Formats: sequence, structure tokens, C-alpha cells
Amino acid sequence: MLFELTDEQVMIQSMVREFSRKVIAATAAERDRTRQFPWENLKKMGELGLMGMMVPLQYGGEGADTISYTLALAEIAYSCASTAVIMSVHNSIVCQSILRYGTEEQKTKYLKPLCSAEFIGAFALTEPHAGSDPVSQSTSATRNGNFYVINGSKRFITTGKNAGLVIVTAKTDETEGHKGITAFIINKNTPGYSIGRIEDKLGLRASDTCDLNFDNCLVPVEDRLGKEGDGFRIAMTALDGGRIGIAAQSVGVAQAALDAAVKYTREREQFGQKISKFQGIRWMVADMATELEAARQLMLSAAALKDKGEKYTAQASMAKLFASEMVNRITAKALQLHGGYGFISDYAVERFFRDARVFTIYEGTSEIQRVVIANHVFKDKRQISTKTLEG
Ligand code: CAA
Repeated sequence: MLFELTDEQVMIQSMVREFSRKVIAATAAERDRTRQFPWENLKKMGELGLMGMMVPLQYGGEGADTISYTLALAEIAYSCASTAVIMSVHNSIVCQSILRYGTEEQKTKYLKPLCSAEFIGAFALTEPHAGSDPVSQSTSATRNGNFYVINGSKRFITTGKNAGLVIVTAKTDETEGHKGITAFIINKNTPGYSIGRIEDKLGLRASDTCDLNFDNCLVPVEDRLGKEGDGFRIAMTALDGGRIGIAAQSVGVAQAALDAAVKYTREREQFGQKISKFQGIRWMVADMATELEAARQLMLSAAALKDKGEKYTAQASMAKLFASEMVNRITAKALQLHGGYGFISDYAVERFFRDARVFTIYEGTSEIQRVVIANHVFKDKRQISTKTLEG
């Protein structure tokens, strides 16, 4: 499939590029040092329509397609990967789940403030003993009249500390496996909801990651998302879209690392010439650019399938798998090309290298993506080969 972006997609990309490189980039290194949550920038992003990009206008969003969204997200990631992951979870997972599975009341109540960034959303699936295997989660939700009583703990929750609203999964029926899992929309002020341990991380330091605890947390029935037993499907569908978002973050950070490497090698002189003149270095840069382009095409291809309303689970996993592994190779090479300067915080490649490390882990490890892809290959071989080869 050859991608010719529409005028509107190019316009969105240019607008976000300008904003990102002027506003977001200015304080990215400082945010990485201080771990300051980017509230001010998120509010500006809300004003620009970046916090509800794929939400229809009637609910306060921009009504943009997934391709435009991935282009915008990559531009934000180019400047600050911490800001990008907050934007990604908020748009791809939280807003999209409410849009797809919410009642009319839930959409009207929650989407507008999410789109304007009045509050930021989080998604709580993972638990201390249930990461790659979310069906084994143990958080429980017991119906009591017009409420559910939620008990348990969630782990590694992106934006958990700063989120105003969290989509939480819990078991409503212990005996039903994945069909016993239900999703709930929980407001941070709900009694029994509390923030637990906050993680100290290698990268993405301006995006908080924490435990969330539920101690007899009372959630009204009208805040159940979907029906009882829909929770696993809601989570899996949300992650399909989320994984395209991680591919976009990977593309953005990799582009930033490649650009930094090109700039540095053009300026650095050794053995009497710019090091960009050495063939060994040029070939390294050529490989980086090629891998990045391949990842960008996979990202766009998965986004295009989603926009066409076709199945895109396998393509989202392929884009996430390849792009997240690509950005780890590219940031490592960009650091190498900087020599000793790449290892110190004066140069941004050090941050890019640290930020990219988690991309092969969150929203499903590379190993889980391979499970998803292999399942699709063995179940329906044509689904992948024809979609990839067709124009
Ligand atoms: N869309 C819709 N439904 C889906 C689906 C999808 N993509 N994938 C599976 N399902 C459905 C199946 O159809 C099946 O339903 P039926 O029984 O009705 O047919 C059901 O779900 C169970 O499917 P599987 O038997 O394939 O499920 P499984 O238990 O073997 O797990 C898995 C599959 C792919 C390994 C899945 O558990 C998985 O993706 N694990 C990784 C979880 C993950 O990514 N966690 C990241 C945490 S979130 C995060 O990181 C966010 C953040 O803060 C940044």
C-alpha cells in the first residue's frame, strides 16, 4: 500500500511539528531531570485538539482519522517521549474505549473534559502478578445494589498519579476466565481509591507510573463500561489501537535520534575530516534511515486498516513489534555515533536511548506481539499476506 497523505493529514502533521519543536522541545530535558508532569503543555495540547483527536466533534473531539493521529503523536514523541506516552494512553486507550463501548450518558459526561485535557485518562489492567497474562488478574468487583465494590491493586499504571479518570478492569466472576472480567470508569475522587507506590524509572521520567489501590471502592453501576464480562475484550481492543500509538512514539523518537546523529556526524571532525564522510558511518546512517522508513510504513499501514474499519490486530502488533525494536537499535546507534558525548546528558541522544527502552515492554512485550502475530498467521494466513501485498 503506497501512502499518499491527504492535504489535511499533511496540515495536521505540520501544525503539530511546529508546536512540538517550539513548545514541547523547549523544556523536555528539564522535565526529564525534574520529573515534572507536563500539565501546562497538556492543556495547550487540549486547546489544539490533540487530546481527543479521534473523538467526533459532537463529543468535543477533532474527528481526525488514525493516520493523522499517528503523525501527530510521532511529532510529539520527537520532542518529548514522556508527553507522547501520556497523549497516547489518553487518546488511543481511554477516549477510544469510552467512544466504542460507552453509553450515550458516559460519552456525554466524560469525553468533553477528556478532549479538553480538563482531566487526563489512565488505563489500569496490569497487576503485580498479572502482566502479560491479564486474565489471571485478581482485582474483584462485587455487585451490591446499584454499586460495585472494587478491591485489589493495579501496577505500572501510566499517568496513574495525575489521572482524573481511570478505566479499571476487575473480576465480576472468578469462574469465567476472560469472560468474568468487567471494565469500570472510576473517578479519582471515589472513596476507597488511592495512589500507591510511584516508580523511579530509567526513562519517560516526566510521565508518572504508579500502583493504584482499591479498598472497598464503590463504583455506581452506571459507570460500568460495557456489559459484565466485556472487560477483557474492551482491553484487547483498546490495546490494538494503543499498539499503533507505541509504533508512532517509536517512529518519533527514532527520527529525533537519526536527526541528532546526522547533525553530530556532520559537525564532528576526526582524522582531518567530518566523520560523516567516513563510509562506515554513512552505512550506519543508511541502515538507520531504512529501518525507520520501514517502521513508518508499518505504522501507517496499521492505521489505514483501522481507518477503513478492517481487522488490524495483527498489523498493529507487527507495527508495534518492529517499530519498538527499531527505535532501540537506532537510539543505540545514534548514541554510538556521538562517542563519549552520547553517554552524557548534554546531548539529547542519552535521553532518547533511555526513553525508548520501555517501548518493547509496555502495551504488550515484543514476545506477546509475536504470540498475537503467530496466532493470526496460523489461524488465517491470507489475512496477513494479502493485506500486506495488496495496494
Ligand atoms: N480484540 C478483540 N477481542 C480479542 C482480541 C482483540 N485484539 N484478542 C483476543 N480477543 C478475545 C478473543 O476473541 C477471545 O474471545 P472469545 O473467547 O469470545 O472468542 C478472548 O479475547 C480470549 O482470547 P485469547 O484466548 O487469545 O486470550 P489469551 O488469554 O490467550 O491472551 C494475549 C491473549 C494476546 C496474550 C493477551 O493476554 C495480551 O495481549 N497480553 C498482553 C497484555 C498487555 O499488553 N498488557 C499491557 C498492559 S497495558 C499498558 O501497558 C498500558 C500503559 O499504561 C502504557
